[in-house]
Amino acid sequence: MNIALSRAAIVGATGPTGRHLARELQQRGVAVRAVSRATANLDRCFPDPAVECVAADALDAAAVARAVAGCDLVVDCIGLPPDRMADHAATARIVAAAAQETGARLLQVSSWWGFMPVRRLPLNESHPRAGGNTYARARRAAEDVMLAAGAAVIHLPDFFGPHVHTSTLQMPLREAAAGKTMNWIGAADTEREYAFVPDAMAMAADLALRAEAYGRSWVFPGSGPLDARRAAEIASAHLDRRVKVRTAPRWLLRALGLVSADLRAFAPVLDDYLQPIRYDAGRLAELLGPLRTTPYAEAIPATLGGLQAGRGGQNATATDPTA
Ligand SMILES: NC(=O)c1ccc[n+]([C@@H]2O[C@H](COP(=O)([O-])OP(=O)(O)OC[C@H]3O[C@@H](n4cnc5c(N)ncnc54)[C@H](OP(=O)(O)O)[C@@H]3O)[C@@H](O)[C@H]2O)c1
Repeated sequence: MNIALSRAAIVGATGPTGRHLARELQQRGVAVRAVSRATANLDRCFPDPAVECVAADALDAAAVARAVAGCDLVVDCIGLPPDRMADHAATARIVAAAAQETGARLLQVSSWWGFMPVRRLPLNESHPRAGGNTYARARRAAEDVMLAAGAAVIHLPDFFGPHVHTSTLQMPLREAAAGKTMNWIGAADTEREYAFVPDAMAMAADLALRAEAYGRSWVFPGSGPLDARRAAEIASAHLDRRVKVRTAPRWLLRALGLVSADLRAFAPVLDDYLQPIRYDAGRLAELLGPLRTTPYAEAIPATLGGLQAGRGGQNATATDPTA
């Protein structure tokens, strides 16, 4: 059943998901209030005067309550750096309480990490959510807060595309766009699935407008299987030069973690990233009908074009390793 929404507050709106979702909601006639901590980020990301910008820290309950007041949808798009992952549950509690106070529906943009360790493929909503690393537990804790508050919780694959700053596909694409070798986590022929962020946020906006969305989890699809070789082939064709790929075995990635803070932060999830992954978005398709995803052969060139034009999101402030 379709529902009417008039105004959505997007908390953590200055990241790629928030920016794309804001546009998709506006296109569906929903007014948008963008909320994040930094006024400068808000002004840079939302020059459109139709988007209302409100600065608030999601760890400040009173500020969040003021920021979402009068909205009928509140979205949590907050991204946190690895050492603050545990704050996801705290921000979820505050955002959920503020939404309930103003009588708004709730949507959370989360990731597939809560399903770690991945035990069976394709990954769907019935996959176990137990055990795993500290990031998986932090994600799950936040999702559980949201589900208990009646939210629709979206589990996104790793994503790429305009404005994306950090992901296991976006970073190698940024290297390719800069004329460098792509550094790839895992073997060159391990197939993993990635979501093009404009596709994902178009589906998220459609989902937000459906009454059936709320109080449930939704696994989102990517654009199908992709390995490093295919990514390099597509990048080479678009950039008109041979893009090389550098892969590293597990032991070397572990060893490099001794000198690289980024790889060290990635260590808890590394083993899951060395495995194939694919997603079963059947539940979402049953509700929304056939899901439109952009093939990598179009989405990767679009991403590279944006990166070459300086629209890759590399100036973003958040530092989540992928999720
Ligand atoms: N990257 C991936 O491949 C991937 C895959 C699946 C899921 N995810 C997850 O999807 C979600 C959305 O991703 P994203 O890349 O759009 O997010 P993001 O860019 O990492 O973060 C979005 C915004 O959250 C804001 N923020 C951080 N702490 C805040 C706080 N205390 N109060 C208010 N705002 C705060 C930041 O803006 P200010 O600095 O202006 O406050 C930031 O721009 C994240 O949880 C991410 O981890 C990511």
